[in-house]
Amino acid sequence: MNEIKIFCPATIANLNCGFDVMGLCLDEIGDEMIIRKSIEKGIKITKIIGADLPLETEKNVAGVAALAICKEAIHRVSFDYGFEIEIHKKIKAGSGIGSSSASAAGAVFGINELLGKPFTKHELVDFAMKGEAIASGCEHADNVAPCLLGGFTLVRGYNPLDVIRIESPNELYAVVLHPHIEVKTADARAVLSPNVSLKNAIIQTGNLGGLIAGLYTNDYELIGRSLQDVIIEPMRKHLIPNFDHVKNAAIQNGALGSGISGAGPSIFALCKGQNNAEKVAFAMSKSYKNAGITFDIHVSKINPNGVKTIKN
Ligand code: HSE
Repeated sequence: MNEIKIFCPATIANLNCGFDVMGLCLDEIGDEMIIRKSIEKGIKITKIIGADLPLETEKNVAGVAALAICKEAIHRVSFDYGFEIEIHKKIKAGSGIGSSSASAAGAVFGINELLGKPFTKHELVDFAMKGEAIASGCEHADNVAPCLLGGFTLVRGYNPLDVIRIESPNELYAVVLHPHIEVKTADARAVLSPNVSLKNAIIQTGNLGGLIAGLYTNDYELIGRSLQDVIIEPMRKHLIPNFDHVKNAAIQNGALGSGISGAGPSIFALCKGQNNAEKVAFAMSKSYKNAGITFDIHVSKINPNGVKTIKN
């Protein structure tokens, strides 16, 4: 195989109670990438369509992630070629649904396939995280892990990296409202206080445990009760015009829970069943009509597969 075309899905990170540790993978919303072997060694970003992003390998999240996997791959497999990467961006940068992660995860997935899969998908998370760090200023895996593995993921620990994949309950749907403003992850991290009160740490820990338990037992009510964020949301929501309004519309229309998707500005809701998800999407859209900001809205099943090959 000399060339591969892949689909790199969008993701929702944090899920309210799991800042930097929880994430889920969306269906159908995502980028495409073409990666091919080249005679010239090293990594070359040949084309980026749909976004104004750097072509220099060391400044591009896909480039940095690609360099990270190639550096390790030489210890597992012998190869004397390089790779060219073409990126077709559909996920807007700074949208809060894992734009940079899709590129980083796509690069390492594609290269791993072309090398004959020397690494497991779990092992790829570490390389993708190196690329992600270029965009956000720090290594976090809560978008790259669900993008690579599908379903829900928990980063149990970062040192060493320990990622656990969790199956999604069948009837769970995500709604994502994406206001057309850009919030850079690095900026949204800069507004966070490094200190957390013991009281809030207790509430957040309880909710994270509740969310995980709810996912394992298909307990939708428990998932809903656990989708609370007493730490990050109060510090970030001012970055998102009309946030409370949209969140309330989602809850009032039966969503299990709602909150900031990743670093924002996207706002997500989780729902039981497609009918409820459509109803919630309608209510969220209606509540954003007066914000004076254009937006798009998606209703999505939880994608169990993550990044995948479209053509090889
Ligand atoms: N956990 C990260 C943050 C996700 O909220 O900063 C960024 O997409």
